[in-house]
Amino acid sequence: MKAVVYEKYGSPDVLELREVKTPTPKDDEVLIRIHAVSINDWDWGLLQGTPFMTRLLSGFLRPKKIILGSDIAGRIEALGENVKRFQLGDAVFGDLSGSWGGFAEYVCAPETALALKPPSMTFAEAAAIPQAAMLAVQGLRDRGGIQPGQKVLINGAGGGVGTFAVQIAKLYGVEVTGVDSSSKLDLLRSLGFDKVIDYAQEDFTRSGTRYDLILDVKTNRSIFDYARALSPNGTYVTVGGSLARLFQILFIGPLISMTTKKTICVAMLKPNKDLAYMCELFEAGKVKPVIDRLRTLSEIPEAMRHFGAGDHKGKIVVTLD
Ligand SMILES: NC(=O)c1ccc[n+]([C@@H]2O[C@H](COP(=O)([O-])OP(=O)(O)OC[C@H]3O[C@@H](n4cnc5c(N)ncnc54)[C@H](OP(=O)(O)O)[C@@H]3O)[C@@H](O)[C@H]2O)c1
Repeated sequence: MKAVVYEKYGSPDVLELREVKTPTPKDDEVLIRIHAVSINDWDWGLLQGTPFMTRLLSGFLRPKKIILGSDIAGRIEALGENVKRFQLGDAVFGDLSGSWGGFAEYVCAPETALALKPPSMTFAEAAAIPQAAMLAVQGLRDRGGIQPGQKVLINGAGGGVGTFAVQIAKLYGVEVTGVDSSSKLDLLRSLGFDKVIDYAQEDFTRSGTRYDLILDVKTNRSIFDYARALSPNGTYVTVGGSLARLFQILFIGPLISMTTKKTICVAMLKPNKDLAYMCELFEAGKVKPVIDRLRTLSEIPEAMRHFGAGDHKGKIVVTLD
């Protein structure tokens, strides 16, 4: 099969389209012919081997898994002996983070990592959903405890997580402010953000406005700045950002939560937990993935460059049809 592989950490230039052996499913796995795969921040970090700490798992000097890509959608072509939930030909999607292998024509995946793709959802839409939508749902609902009538802010609003988060937040009847670069503000308005802030022009933590819930994908400020931007009972949830800032939140967040009525916490991704919920929302017409543009397998290095530059709006999806 064809796959985009990398054997050393680096820029997108180290990615190479090559013939490799098609994998064979283990007993609890299925073989999927991939129709679409989306790019996540995690792929970007693994490509470069940053932050350096992640190499403890991904390989100290060189990557152990040479094919990136976690969020895939495709059709089942072979079944392991113990697979119960799926049949040959089923259209499925899911997040394979940990095992990866999505930048390829075929991948093996445990059946537990997959959900059936609704017929009305394209493969590209399905591939856009897993990591970004799970972080949005779990950040807003599970960790953030979003409630009707709240004033919500999404920082880093125009990327994968933010473009799902606003659609989900609006279902709760809240007022949502989005923060991103000026080039994304029109998109944010069209997605339903009530207010938008260009982060180059305004620091939302210093404007004096207080939010009941902040969902942050870019955590790059001091925890005390975020605490200041919260209403007295407010909740700040980060899903990612600067490692130093995340450690600050992990260690100092509980102290702030103990001494005030504010909550400051990190949402850890529970992969694939809410795929069925996302399918329901999609089928009801309540959520639609925002796809920046479609690319082909051979264009993955270019797609990764595009992702790294931060120019993308919503999700970058690679299709293999
Ligand atoms: N918690 C977990 O278990 C877990 C698991 C996987 C991934 N993650 C994390 O989840 C996040 C994924 O987010 P995503 O897919 O939405 O990323 P994304 O698609 O790259 O979107 C990030 C957005 O933030 C904007 N941005 C950049 N600098 C900003 C700033 N200073 N202030 C406000 N916005 C800014 C970017 O726009 P411009 O570039 O135009 O400025 C972009 O639109 C990453 O942080 C990743 O590390 C967490």
